[in-house]
Amino acid sequence: MKEKIAQIEQLLVTELAGCENLQALDALRVKVLGKKGELTALLRGMGQLSPEERPAAGQMINEAREKFTGLLEEKQALLKKQEQEAALKRETIDVTQPAAMPKAGSVHPMTLVLNEVVDCFTGMGFEVVEGPEVELDHYNFELMNIPKNHPARDAQDTFYVDDNIVLRTHTSPVQARTMLTRKPPIRVICPGRVYRADEMDATHSPVFHQMEGLVIDKDVTMADLRGTLNAFAERLYGKGITTRFRPSFFPFTEPSAEVDLTCVNCHGKGCRVCKGTGWIEVLGCGMVNPHVLEMCGIDPNEYSGFAFGIGIERITMQRYGIPDLRLLFEGDVRFLGQFR
Ligand code: DAH
Repeated sequence: MKEKIAQIEQLLVTELAGCENLQALDALRVKVLGKKGELTALLRGMGQLSPEERPAAGQMINEAREKFTGLLEEKQALLKKQEQEAALKRETIDVTQPAAMPKAGSVHPMTLVLNEVVDCFTGMGFEVVEGPEVELDHYNFELMNIPKNHPARDAQDTFYVDDNIVLRTHTSPVQARTMLTRKPPIRVICPGRVYRADEMDATHSPVFHQMEGLVIDKDVTMADLRGTLNAFAERLYGKGITTRFRPSFFPFTEPSAEVDLTCVNCHGKGCRVCKGTGWIEVLGCGMVNPHVLEMCGIDPNEYSGFAFGIGIERITMQRYGIPDLRLLFEGDVRFLGQFR
């Protein structure tokens, strides 16, 4: 019996030395002390001993069990400590390492330009007002003196919500809303989104942005309009910028003009942005049609005014030499990140 116990102890000590982790240690514990383990087998074999021999043998086995358990626990404590130390080493955080910087966003070029334009006009005493994008036909067309059979009403250009409601095709209806709710003198700008059933290409998009301007007062003339727009062009593009007024027609102004700026993308040589002309049409303008004043409750014998509508995409492209309108709508961070 003594010999057998010594053999088991020998085996335990050898295998303990080779134990590298807690799983291996547990397997060893089962092999020696488990139900089918070697020491338990000795205990079972006690039945074959004589009654006189049994107490001494039992005591030996129990002592051995205690000793082995102690050895196993000692090793277990050691392995646990080692594993903990390894984990600590593995999961160490280097607090001196510089942090990965969060990506900073940037202001959209359209917003940058719009802010500049708004600053320019508020500096001249204009106030910003806004109107709804889903608009009544009455304001979008009727009060803007666009009669029922006018081509601008063609279903091809206008997104109709129903017979009386449209997605506004321009910011001009805000003129009517303003004249109907304020008394002259009026000096407002109205930036916002507008919609037209257009194809998307380098210069067209079904959604785009305009900024309306409206001035109503006594003795307002076309010279005031030109002076205001020249001040705007110089402020935005620098001194000596060339503008070109061309006679035009809009139902809500009389007389009307279209204003072009030299194309900064090609400096007047002609390119895709300016369709080869060297000029970019950036706004329409004119003296408010007396009939519009009348419909909006303002006496045309007492007051006159001018209005203009600026395409924000156009002047943004102009300002930064952006060759394709679609870049403004795609939200590609490689493009947007360039404007800071
Ligand atoms: N509403 C016009 C458009 O969308 C632009 C415009 C032209 C606005 C002349 C005006 C104006 O206020 O006087 O094309």
